[in-house]
Order: sequence, then structure tokens, then C-alpha cells
Amino acid sequence: MLWNKKIVIGITGSIAAYKAACLCRALIKKGAEVQVVITPAGKEFITPVTLSALTQKPVVSEFFTANDGTWHSHVDLGLWADAMLIAPATAASIGKMANGIADNILITTYLSMKAPVFIAPAMDLDMYAHPSTQQNLNKLQSFGNYIIEPATGFLASALEGKGRMEEPDKIVEILENYFAHSTDLARKKILITAGPTYEKIDPVRYIGNYSSGKMGFALAEAFATRGAEVVLIAGPVKMETIHPNIRRIDVESAKEMYQSAIEEFANVDTAILCAAVADYRPKNYSENKLKREDKGDFSLELTANPDIAATLGKLKKANQLLVGFALETDNEQTNALAKLQKKNLNFIVLNSLKDEGAGFQGDTNKISIIDAQGKTTAFEMKSKKAVAEDIVDFLRNRLS
Ligand code: PMT
Repeated sequence: MLWNKKIVIGITGSIAAYKAACLCRALIKKGAEVQVVITPAGKEFITPVTLSALTQKPVVSEFFTANDGTWHSHVDLGLWADAMLIAPATAASIGKMANGIADNILITTYLSMKAPVFIAPAMDLDMYAHPSTQQNLNKLQSFGNYIIEPATGFLASALEGKGRMEEPDKIVEILENYFAHSTDLARKKILITAGPTYEKIDPVRYIGNYSSGKMGFALAEAFATRGAEVVLIAGPVKMETIHPNIRRIDVESAKEMYQSAIEEFANVDTAILCAAVADYRPKNYSENKLKREDKGDFSLELTANPDIAATLGKLKKANQLLVGFALETDNEQTNALAKLQKKNLNFIVLNSLKDEGAGFQGDTNKISIIDAQGKTTAFEMKSKKAVAEDIVDFLRNRLS
């Protein structure tokens, strides 16, 4: 998987920099071409001579070579690489990357990078756990970077905890996995709905629900990372998308989501309906803010929204897959299967509010995938990103 792959390894100033030598060696043994970029602090821990001997390339550490003025182009490196791996990544460099502080060639290379970026943090346990580091890592993740979580164990500070850079063999395995899967869904087109819908009552009020969009966006990212072309129809959410394979259509109401879904469905191989769509909307929208009146109770007349899933179920062709979600609170299996049948879905992904940590808003979910015969594949509680990977893996073979 790494044969002929061009990899930029960024090394920052951590005692774990010695592991970067093993990383370079392991990647080269697998057939990769490796270019090292190192920070001034990184050079205090491992010499460029060691690294250039291993990679058979001059190490890039300055913007230009002092004696003859040769310019080292971080932009060219950004275009050259198939992947960038920053290992070890210190708290300081992570902070600079998260905030665009381009004061050395490693950070400018990172900011110019067109290829996927993998970051392997290495630091003391308290530095790693600090909210500042965690916020920066979350920010990097939201940019689409992959964080290779540090391991727990003995640290250079003589303390024990989470902060050890992951072992080189494991990092190589992660890169191999990435390249193995990065194109397996190329040419597939996927439609995903995500988030809530808002149904306007008046200019200041709406009917909505607690969906954050996290599950649907994780799915979009997982499919896009595997090479699929994704159309993401998103209700009103505070989520970002940067993957170039994702085309995002922002909508507010169920009717808008319905319209976009109908327009896009004919051009896709699969639609995955993860949005929590409002079943009803106010029958009449008030142009002016409704005033509180002293009449006691107030009734709002509702009218049914179109059912996107059921409509797509009718339009579905034999070569298309339609996958719904069901968020249940009771009789989960029975209710989910009934929805699958009623809406003519191929699969339904069940999540239950009875499972703590599943459903709305959180970063985790616990799902079962049910097929038209009621056959159920259950998964453990995991991060929504990992759940999305499970769904992609499950659908991958059925998609071809
Ligand atoms: O966004 P998060 O905070 O990460 O939360 C994720 C989630 C809990 C919203 C998600 O995992 C989920 O379960 N989504 C479906 C929620 C739901 O309300 O399902 P439902 O049982 O009401 O609807 C069944 C299916 O029909 C769903 O695929 C839904 O998208 C679809 N539907 C429903 C109503 C409607 N008018 N049109 C539809 O297409």
C-alpha cells in the first residue's frame, strides 16, 4: 500500500523524535519515498545527518540554504506529497498548526499541504490532557486531519500516563490502512442527509430537535475519505465540511430538505438518511411575531411534512441502495423494521435513546444495522467517526 507513496515526515522537538528514525526506515522498507521536514527544536533531539542518511534526501529545516541561498519551497512539498505525517507532534507545534502560526518551515509546509495530514502527538500526560491541547487537537480534527492518539505508558518525565507517541509500526499500519481504503469507493456517489430541520412558526420561533449533525457529517467524511463523491444535505447545524469530495447543500426546513433530496437522488448510488426530519410543521406561518395573549392555553395547528425516505423508497431503482436511520425509545427492533418496510429501505440503522451515550449530540453512538429480512448486525458503543467507518464497511460490498 505504501509502494511509491510520497510521504513528508514532520519532526518537532520532543524526546520521541528518536522514533522518527525508525518510522523513516519502516516507510522506506515498504517502498515509500520520504522527505523529512524538521523544526529547529527537532534538530536538538535528532540530527539531520541521521535522517538524510536514512531517507537519502537532504532534510528540510530552513526556508533557504544559508551558503548559496537555495529556496526550499514548502508549497512544492505540499503538492508533492501523498500524505504528511507529523511525528512526534509537540503541544507547541500542535498549537501553531491549529492557529496558523507559520514561524518555521514545518508549519508552512503543513499549511500548504494538499494531501491528508496525520498527527502523532507526544508529550507529558498533563500537557496532553490540558484543555488547550485538547481544543487544538479537536480543531485540527475539524480541519480533516487525522490524530493518531498517543499511547498510555512510561513517559520521559518518569510519570506514567497518556502521552507516549504511538509506536512506529502502528503508525505505519495506520497509513497502510488509509491508503488501502482511500480509493475503494472511487466513482461511487452518495447522498447523505444530516442534522435537524427547523419549521418556522413566526420570525423568531421554530419547531426543531436536538440533532447536531455529528453522525451525518461523520458519515459524509468517512465516505469522502474512501474516495466517494458525497452530496451532503445539511439542516441547520454548526458543523464544518472541508473534504473536497463533499458537496454541501444547506437547508432549513423539511420541505427544503425534501426538494434537494429529490433533485439529487437520481444521480447517486446510495442515499443515507441520517437527518432528524420534523414530521410536522405549523400549518400557518405568522409574518409577525406571535404575541402572548392572556387567554391561557395556546394551540398551534400542525400539518404533515413530506416523508423524504418514503418518497425516495418509491423512486428507488434496482441498482440504488436506500438506508434510513431510526432513533427509538422503545420496541426498538420492531419499530425500526416497520419503518424499513413502510419506507422501502434496504437497511435501517437503529440507535436507541435507552443506550446512554447513543443518539443526539454526543460524540459516541451505538448502532445495529437491520436488513429487509430483519437480520441484525449489532455494534459496540464507539465514537461517531468509528460508527461511520462501520457503516461504510458494512455497505461497501453491497455498493458494488
Ligand atoms: O445529529 P446527531 O446529534 O449526531 O444525532 C444523530 C441522530 C440521532 C439524529 C441519527 O443517528 C438518527 O437517528 N437519525 C434519524 C432520526 C429520526 O428521527 O428518525 P425517524 O425514526 O424519525 O425517521 C426514520 C427515517 O426516516 C430516518 O432515516 C429519517 O431521516 C427519515 N425521515 C423521517 C421523516 C421525514 N419526514 N422524512 C424522512 O426522510
